[in-house]
Amino acid sequence: GRSRGNMRILVVGLDNSGKSTLIEHIKPNKASTFEATPTVGFQVQEFAKNNLNFTVIDMSGQSRYRTLWEHYFCNVHAVIFVVDSTDRVRMCVAKEELEEVLKHDEVQNSGMPILVYANKGDLPGSMSRQECADELGLSGLNDEQTPWHIEKSNALVGLGVEEGVNWLVQTLQ
Ligand code: GTP
Repeated sequence: GRSRGNMRILVVGLDNSGKSTLIEHIKPNKASTFEATPTVGFQVQEFAKNNLNFTVIDMSGQSRYRTLWEHYFCNVHAVIFVVDSTDRVRMCVAKEELEEVLKHDEVQNSGMPILVYANKGDLPGSMSRQECADELGLSGLNDEQTPWHIEKSNALVGLGVEEGVNWLVQTLQ
């Protein structure tokens, strides 16, 4: 079953959404981080915690680098999508990126859980969870096919981060 063995979790989101800041609260203290930059503008970070293997990808290169990060979806068990909940202008770009993620066969066929962090929730003008879910088109998803959850987070202090990961771990069991 899925509860045994290592789980691969992909962390994606636009640049400036807060991925790096957020994962600092997931990483174990002395995590050995592997960083590779195959191409300028395309960065991959990997670290492990318990039996969870995290791969963090900056999608900001958008379609230009899509072929490069496509293969990271193979054998992934869950996706964490980080969105800047104050960036109303780029919410539609985030939606498009999330749609690309949801299009994947792996995501479509395996009931892969999607955790969204509505990050920067500490800032005035940040969108609520419901607003983000609506804007990202999550509200229209079939929860049976794609279990999803949205958690408001403040990555600066780590608020909400653990709650999100707990949902993911429970859903993966
Ligand atoms: P790239 O490295 O460009 O891919 O960005 P990233 O997604 O890794 O974002 P990063 O963690 O570098 O955060 C971008 C900026 O937003 C930094 O200045 C962070 O300090 C800030 N930031 C991240 N999360 C939060 C948050 O929850 N609240 C606030 N107020 N600022 C945040």
